[in-house]
Amino acid sequence: MNNWTRKDFLKASVVGGSAALLSKTPLAAASSGGSANGDVRVAVVGLNGQGRGHMLDHCNKLPGSKLVAICDVDTKVLEARKAQCVEQGVTPKTYVDYRKLLEDKDIDAVVIASPNHQHSLQTIWALQAGKDVYCEKPLSHNVWEGRQAVEASRKYNKNIVFAGTQNRSSEDVMEAIAYVRSGKIGKIKWARGLCYKLRESIGRTYGPQAVPAHVDYDLWTGPAWLTPPRRNGSKGPIHYDWHWFWNYGGGDITNQGIHQMDVARWFLGEPGLPPNVMSFGGRFGYQDDAETPNTLISVFGYEKAPLIFEVRGLPMRAGMRAMDSYYGTNVGVVVQCEGGFVTIGSNGGAIIYDNNKKKLQQFAKNTLGQHRANFVKAMQSRKVTIGSVEECHYSSALCHLGNVSYMLGTEKTNAELADAIRADAETSDSFARYGSFVRMLDHLKANNVDPTSTQTVVGPLLKIDGKQEIFVGSEREIVDAANANPLLKREGREGFKIPQIQAGAIARS
Ligand SMILES: NC(=O)c1ccc[n+]([C@@H]2O[C@H](COP(=O)([O-])OP(=O)(O)OC[C@H]3O[C@@H](n4cnc5c(N)ncnc54)[C@H](O)[C@@H]3O)[C@@H](O)[C@H]2O)c1
Repeated sequence: MNNWTRKDFLKASVVGGSAALLSKTPLAAASSGGSANGDVRVAVVGLNGQGRGHMLDHCNKLPGSKLVAICDVDTKVLEARKAQCVEQGVTPKTYVDYRKLLEDKDIDAVVIASPNHQHSLQTIWALQAGKDVYCEKPLSHNVWEGRQAVEASRKYNKNIVFAGTQNRSSEDVMEAIAYVRSGKIGKIKWARGLCYKLRESIGRTYGPQAVPAHVDYDLWTGPAWLTPPRRNGSKGPIHYDWHWFWNYGGGDITNQGIHQMDVARWFLGEPGLPPNVMSFGGRFGYQDDAETPNTLISVFGYEKAPLIFEVRGLPMRAGMRAMDSYYGTNVGVVVQCEGGFVTIGSNGGAIIYDNNKKKLQQFAKNTLGQHRANFVKAMQSRKVTIGSVEECHYSSALCHLGNVSYMLGTEKTNAELADAIRADAETSDSFARYGSFVRMLDHLKANNVDPTSTQTVVGPLLKIDGKQEIFVGSEREIVDAANANPLLKREGREGFKIPQIQAGAIARS
């Protein structure tokens, strides 16, 4: 299958519903557990960007951990990273094929920093091989495989899974949540996650790009559909820009946004999926290879209070690099309560204000940077008290659900969109949606996107059965299309099938 368009997703029969096949686990026995001095023996998988930091930390910065192996399907990256380890006095084994790495009994744990579409499968395989796991965010590329990873963590519970949403280690966020829950500023009216982060055009290629000889593209593709890369911006045809293609990523809501989504949902204390979701947005301001929106508003209709998530990839104004901010934050979270509000920055820093913007309290114990050390502690204690895989599943799933609504959307003029939002009086969050919409228009105008001629993609309000983690409702066509969307469920390609750990309604369909 070539690159996907939103219209592809409307064709449920084309992209969804393939029968579940038995998964093949390439793995053998569990690891023997611990080096001679008791350090946990760690392998890092996926080394280009985020994995590099993990690798260097496990080289010699994290007490109780020892880097013993590294893995990447790009041999150029692998060799460069090995050289960096050697500079640190550590010589890890190197692997191109993750499945071979998992057969190595001298490895206790894997840190998964490969692209999103690999996360659930690599987590499940690692558990089946008897390894502990640190999985970078998001946990999944689609809701169903995330659920399988959660169930695998229960089934293979001799090992731990630690999720890479590092804000969970922030004590200032924990304190701010406790403050709100104490009721001092009343009930939550809404929680808003913000991802106003500059994302420039990735350029245009007009066709399939060659895969560099140093990349094993079959392994790189893993459970995704095997299709040539159709991007070749400053990051080349393979790395990083996969974030902007539905086959591998989910745009910035799933990239940066998952962190803020997770914090916003944590504030709400909502333990699962919301009863409904609706999104609108578009890729505005430039035309390039990328598929995902650079402007997106998703509203999750939680009963306690709506969670609104906003993505802006365009700057404050055309030609600038500075980004808009909302209540003083651009990548962060704002939680509006009856008697005041809370702001959280991208790296923590929680402040409580009253409704006159007078600072009531500031929590500054920023411990987000201890997340990797907390992983080592969790492995030593065999307990995960923060970094829960299930929490990461729900927050990852929110990103996917928001994207499914967007992908099923139709293009509307902004006048039509305004009417649609106004008319939607059935949910209490319609005002929140409308306010976000008006601000989105101002933002687009500042970027020279003509609001009168712009077509915004408006997704349907999709109802969700949180227990089964599927879409439900009477509008069969749209519900079927939503349930067939690969961001809800994709089983994976031959040789890279996601093992089905828990059968469910959608798994049986
Ligand atoms: N927690 C955070 O703040 C944070 C920050 C940045 C990135 N991340 C996450 O880290 C992951 C990696 O992001 P990145 O920016 O480094 O991406 P990237 O594309 O730059 O690097 C990914 C690396 O994984 C390798 N890879 C791909 N498939 C593989 C496989 N099957 N086995 C082994 N290696 C494989 C690639 O060759 C590449 O070197 C993403 O999931 C991203 O969401 C998290």
